[in-house]
Amino acid sequence: MRTYIDSAFVDEVRKADELGLVDGVTTNPSLVSSTDREYRDIIDELTEFVDGPISVEVIATDYEEMLEEAREYDTWGDNIAVKLPMTRDGMRALQTLTAEGVQTNITLVFSVNQALVAAKNGATMVSPFIGRLDDNGHDGVGLIEDIREVYDNYDFETDILAASIRHPYHVQEVAKAGADIATLPPSTAEKMLDHPRTDSGLESFLDDWGDRESPALK
Ligand code: E4P
Repeated sequence: MRTYIDSAFVDEVRKADELGLVDGVTTNPSLVSSTDREYRDIIDELTEFVDGPISVEVIATDYEEMLEEAREYDTWGDNIAVKLPMTRDGMRALQTLTAEGVQTNITLVFSVNQALVAAKNGATMVSPFIGRLDDNGHDGVGLIEDIREVYDNYDFETDILAASIRHPYHVQEVAKAGADIATLPPSTAEKMLDHPRTDSGLESFLDDWGDRESPALK
């Protein structure tokens, strides 16, 4: 499973890159607003070291304006994926952008049928928001399983990008469910490396070894 970082803070993405977890990046209007920076400046910095897709989300909600925005974002780098909302105008824009060869990511997906419509219209990626579903008492990971089954039934090539991930358990569950990609909040990416038994095991190995040097360093 590929892992993206869900952040508009470039230093957070760089830190996750050191852990080998940056196969791409996702951003959204809320994440960008939290930085107080210009969207373009953030993306310019990210394109310097991120080779995989960087999702840039449109603000417009009508077809013509979405296209205008999307075509501009597409010029911001060779690896831009334009993020469009799962709406009627979003699907029209998706059809046009797919025909133009633009990479796309359909956001705010909460049902199998929405994922099916996005795939039929040629989406590169579809983003089911699993954490927000869980927040409402539904089964976010179950949605990933269901979309996987439907896409496999009909050989859709759209990638399932598990979004709105809240914790490391979500990550392992969406990996088991067959998500192609999980986009991780930076704190979740960090936590994936941790286990208290790793820390206590290392501490006891080093205690037992004492203050002798490593034979390799003598
Ligand atoms: C992903 O593309 C979304 O921007 C993100 O995962 C949403 O997460 P949230 O529900 O924690 O805001």
